Amino acid sequence: MLSIFRYFFTDLGIDLGTANTIIFAEDRGFVLNQPSVIALDQSNRLVACGTDAKNMMGKTGNSIQVIRPLADGVIANFVAGEEMVKAFIRNASVSRFKIGKVVIGVPTGITEVEKQAVIESAEIAGAREVHLIAEPMAAAIGSNINVLDNKAHMVVDIGGGTTDIAVINLGGIVVDNTIRIAGDEMNEAVMRHLKQHYHLVIGEATSEKIKIRYGTVSKQYNGKSVDIRGMDLVSGLPRRLALPNSFLIDALQGIVDTIVHSIVSIFEKLPLNLVDDIVDSGIILTGGGALLKGLDELISEKTRLKVHVSSNAFYSVAEGTRRVLENFNHLRIVLMNDKRH
Ligand SMILES: Nc1ncnc2c1ncn2[C@@H]1O[C@H](COP(=O)(O)OP(=O)(O)OP(=O)(O)O)[C@@H](O)[C@H]1O
Ligand SMILES: [Mg+2]
Repeated sequence: MLSIFRYFFTDLGIDLGTANTIIFAEDRGFVLNQPSVIALDQSNRLVACGTDAKNMMGKTGNSIQVIRPLADGVIANFVAGEEMVKAFIRNASVSRFKIGKVVIGVPTGITEVEKQAVIESAEIAGAREVHLIAEPMAAAIGSNINVLDNKAHMVVDIGGGTTDIAVINLGGIVVDNTIRIAGDEMNEAVMRHLKQHYHLVIGEATSEKIKIRYGTVSKQYNGKSVDIRGMDLVSGLPRRLALPNSFLIDALQGIVDTIVHSIVSIFEKLPLNLVDDIVDSGIILTGGGALLKGLDELISEKTRLKVHVSSNAFYSVAEGTRRVLENFNHLRIVLMNDKRH
């Protein structure tokens, strides 16, 4: 953009995640990191967005709906999705600036209709130019991978709603697989386990806190005692329970097996000459779910490949959008709606 315009226009990079939305502004760095949650009244007017909306979850009457519009990696609720994108872009903008380019990370499995909805909401929020990038591509760029070279890299992005597995080579995604099993399902697995084995009912927010604080899939991290408060299914009264954190290994086993299975099944679709590259470079784990203790070692053990957790697992998609904006002409080939092969 010409320098005279730079004063008036700011470019934004957005990771529109199912659990969290992160926005980078060209002139101010990372400006927003909020849960992807919106609260609307009965006329679909905005009541709250982000953390404020998440704090209302499960606590509102009929007049206010608290929605996670992207919960399963798709835009389940278009009105809420558009309102949320608009509200976040407004919150991230400074009034004296207009919005120039916006690069938005979206799931690989996004449909044309969903793409249009995302593009339109950013346009309504004032963006002059909207570009979409597949989340694993952005995550790879944000994890310092040279996505344009002729060497395949495998990225596994474990977010809230989806796990995206992609093999990237020469600026494109060669094969990918998206499963709707990720952090949210881990929360549900912990809730199910406590209910089935201990007749204890806890809410999703509590379950997520326990998972983040004590979660592990390796005996190496055993030893901590977890104090859990919930409702006793039998008595119907509040109850406290102390369990060794190893209960989380059992609770999360099925989810982790599914993720490992999807990684393994990618190799069936992969051209043989790219397999060597992956053996050489290993697997990059990213997304909040990649922070689960012991997950990298477990995946490495099961696949016999090197596994690294991205140094900025939470921010890698947003960081990728930032780097695309900063090297736009060089990297625009990787964008979804801007193929120049
Ligand atoms: N230390 C941790 N251990 C395990 N899980 C974690 C940890 N920290 C965060 N998470 C989980 O990471 C998930 C959110 O990750 P992230 O922000 O990458 O998702 P997202 O980008 O919004 O979702 P998606 O990529 O599916 O669209 C949540 O389920 C959260 O509970
Ligand atoms: Mg993500």
